[in-house]
Order: sequence, then structure tokens, then C-alpha cells
Amino acid sequence: MTTFRENLLAGKTAFVAGGTSGINLGIAKRFAELGAKVAVAGRDPDKAARAAAEIGAIGLSADVRDYAAIRGAMEQVADQLGPMDIVISGAAGNFLAPALGMSANAFRTVVDIDLNGTFNVFRGCHDLLNRPGASLIAITAGQAVNASALQAHACAAKAGINQLIRVLALEWGPEVRVNGISPGPIADTEGMKRLAPDAATRQSHFDRIAMKRWGKIEEVAESAVFLCSPAAGYITGTILDCDGGSQVGDASRGDLAKGMA
Ligand code: COA
Ligand code: NAP
Repeated sequence: MTTFRENLLAGKTAFVAGGTSGINLGIAKRFAELGAKVAVAGRDPDKAARAAAEIGAIGLSADVRDYAAIRGAMEQVADQLGPMDIVISGAAGNFLAPALGMSANAFRTVVDIDLNGTFNVFRGCHDLLNRPGASLIAITAGQAVNASALQAHACAAKAGINQLIRVLALEWGPEVRVNGISPGPIADTEGMKRLAPDAATRQSHFDRIAMKRWGKIEEVAESAVFLCSPAAGYITGTILDCDGGSQVGDASRGDLAKGMA
């Protein structure tokens, strides 16, 4: 997929927290293809090293729940690659469980990775950014706005992320733009494997999609490129749904309308 001009991100430095697999790795890969100097971080050092080698990036091990660790990783990136122009906060943890099947620690763990982790990444990067002009993007999800059973932790965490994006956009504009991307169900990802483990659940997700197909990692990556490019220079505090219309409404009514036309 070539939708943005070559070298669009030449001279830019990008850090992707949680960029060692799946959607975030796809974003990091696209940034590197467009000429950015890229660093990715996750907990598992071997996975980070493999991901970094795959896309020509620097790979670091840091847990976003540990402020000192993630701050240290970003200091290393700024030292090695220069002040950061783009920071993605994409680390997340998830599993299906009813609220009554979650211990306090289970709930806290997901909120800690997703929401506190995003605060840590964004708070920790601010004085390492190339300002003015830096762009921060948090990866959120539809659960932030549409409540979903078995997802008390992720719904709460991602809703918090959406508000954090807006607050930081207010506090850090005009020097720094802060936005979010809300992917829909994206094929071949850990998230889909966990949240749609059987055919019936997969079908219920599919029925919500106006575009009537699963999303691709590359499509979320293109959204990220857009948001950190000059084309989005007046966009801050917004959440871009890259979800085939999954959050728009009841897509089955769309089918009904086609049948009546
Ligand atoms: N149902 C209920 N509780 C669960 C659970 C499940 N399926 N999976 C984990 N937990 C609970 C654990 O029992 C533990 O609670 P306890 O101490 O009261 O027993 C708590 O969650 C933390 O689990 P732990 O395994 O210690 O956490 P971790 O920090 O090692 O890993 C997870 C975090 C649980 C989110 C893990 O699944 C993970 O690392 N995920 C990353 C990848 C991912 O989720 N990708 C998809 C992104 S959308
Ligand atoms: P994934 O492959 O599991 O990616 C998660 C990444 O975060 C990995 O690099 C993982 O590496 C890292 N990570 C996890 N916990 C961490 C921690 N505590 N500290 C640092 N890094 C950590 O998941 P994915 O499905 O691609 O999802 C990526 C993002 O998209 C998430 O924010 C998710 O909520 C969002 N999203 C996904 C979908 C979907 O369809 N998949 C839909 C909507 C939103 P380590 O395990 O080595 O740490």
C-alpha cells in the first residue's frame, strides 16, 4: 500500500510504546518505510530485538507501568536518535472476563497498562520532544465509548485514555498535538484472538462492521501516518475511528435498507 509520498517522515524520530507486535509494530514499520528513525519498546527483550531487526529500528525493553523504566527507555531513544517528533502509546493488555470473575488485581492490571501506561509514556516524553511540531497518538478502542460485557477493565481504561488525550491536547497545544486512533476489529492480531475466540463472537463483531470486512494492520498504520503528518496540522484532541464503521451504529439495519431499496 503506497498512499503517502516517500520520505514523508525523513528526519523525524518516532517512539512506539508497545511497538513490538501487532498493530503497533505495523505502525512502526510504516514510519520506518517513510524514512523515520524508529524505536519500539515492549516488556519482552527478545521480542523487542526481533521486531526491531525486522523493521530496522532500535528495540528496547520497558514496562509502561513502571514510570522510571519507560522514561529511561525514552531518554535512551532521545540520546541515540535525537528529540522525538512522534510518540505512540499503544501498549495494552486484555482478556475476556465478567466483572465478578475479575480480581481487583486483574482489573488494576489492565487499567495500569492501558491508562496509567499512556499517562507514563506521554508525561515522560514531554521534555524529550521536538517542540513545536511533535505529535502524540494513543491507541484506544471502541470499548471507550460503547460498553461491552466482559470488558469492564478495558472499557474503563480506554475511556480514560480518550479523556486523557483531550486534556493533554488542551494543556500541550499549540506546541504538541495529541490524538487517538480507535481501531476496529483488525485481522491477525492478538487482540482479535483474545476478544473473538470463537465463531459466534467473531460473527457478532463482523455484524457491526459497515464495511463488511475485517480491518488490516496497514490501514491503522496509514491513519497514524496521517495524524502525525502536516496534513493533520490543525487536528488535535480528536479520536480517529479506523474501524470500518463499527462504532457508527447497527450495521444490520444497513443490510435491511439494502433489501428494501
Ligand atoms: N480472567 C480473569 N483474570 C485474569 C485473566 C483472565 N482471563 N488473565 C489474567 N487474569 C488476572 C490474573 O489472575 C491476575 O490476577 P490475580 O493476581 O488476582 O490472580 C491479574 O489478572 C494479573 O495477571 P498477570 O498474569 O500477573 O499479569 P501480567 O502483568 O503478567 O500480564 C495480562 C498482563 C494479564 C493483561 C496479559 O494477558 C498480557 O500480558 N497481555 C498482553 C498482550 C495482550 O493482551 N494483547 C491484546 C491487546 S488488546
Ligand atoms: P499485541 O500484538 O498484543 O500488542 C501489544 C504490545 O504491547 C506488544 O508489543 C506487547 O509486547 C506490548 N505490551 C503489553 N504490555 C506491556 C507493558 N506492560 N509494557 C510495555 N509493553 C507492553 O496487541 P494488538 O492486538 O496489536 O493491539 C495493539 C493496540 O491496538 C492495543 O492498544 C489495543 O488495545 C488496540 N486495539 C486492538 C484491536 C484489535 O483488533 N487487535 C482493536 C482495537 C484496539 P510485550 O508483551 O513484550 O510487552
